[in-house]
Amino acid sequence: MASEIKPTGVERHFDAAEMLVSKTDTKGRITYCNQLFRTIAGYGNKELLGKPHNCVRHPEMPRAVFKLLWGALEAKREIFAYVKNMSNNGDHYWVFAHVTPSFDADGDVVGYHSARRAPNREVLTKVIQPLYGNLLELEARQSNRKAGLQDSSNHLASILEEKRTTYDQFILTL
Ligand SMILES: Cc1cc2nc3c(=O)[nH]c(=O)nc-3n(C[C@H](O)[C@H](O)[C@H](O)COP(=O)(O)O)c2cc1C
Repeated sequence: MASEIKPTGVERHFDAAEMLVSKTDTKGRITYCNQLFRTIAGYGNKELLGKPHNCVRHPEMPRAVFKLLWGALEAKREIFAYVKNMSNNGDHYWVFAHVTPSFDADGDVVGYHSARRAPNREVLTKVIQPLYGNLLELEARQSNRKAGLQDSSNHLASILEEKRTTYDQFILTL
């Protein structure tokens, strides 16, 4: 899906009162998408169910953000993140996502759940887009993917350290 599609640079929007919802199994394969998710992403239910969630990945999303996301989920924590996603024709849509594990009665993780709102546009343009641009550049500068990811993760960590804050505090107070 996403790997064969070329970004068009055209943005898709949804209303502040709307939410894009999806659920995955413990491997990150989609088990549920609501109607708005399907409409904005441009895929039918059959195309999405069972697919890895990177089917809507946009190439301009820094890998450091997904490292944080999976680090939180593996530690059984929720996480909030701004994410640029790609629709079926290469259009994109920005979301502010809440991603959380789902637990059974024993406290074991049985899957993951994400609800996404339309992002605050000012935060997006003033903070997130410049930050993600820097992270992406650091990731692209290294021919070794692992080294690039390390550089961008270190950069993000140093920004948080400078601000004497955590990622969670930073993202929730923007
Ligand atoms: C519940 C849940 C929701 C997710 N939502 C998205 C999403 O909207 N967009 C996205 O690119 N990745 C999302 N991911 C992360 C993907 O699984 C994947 O880590 C990411 O797209 C990076 O893919 P890559 O490892 O192929 O670079 C989600 C993961 C989970 C568990």
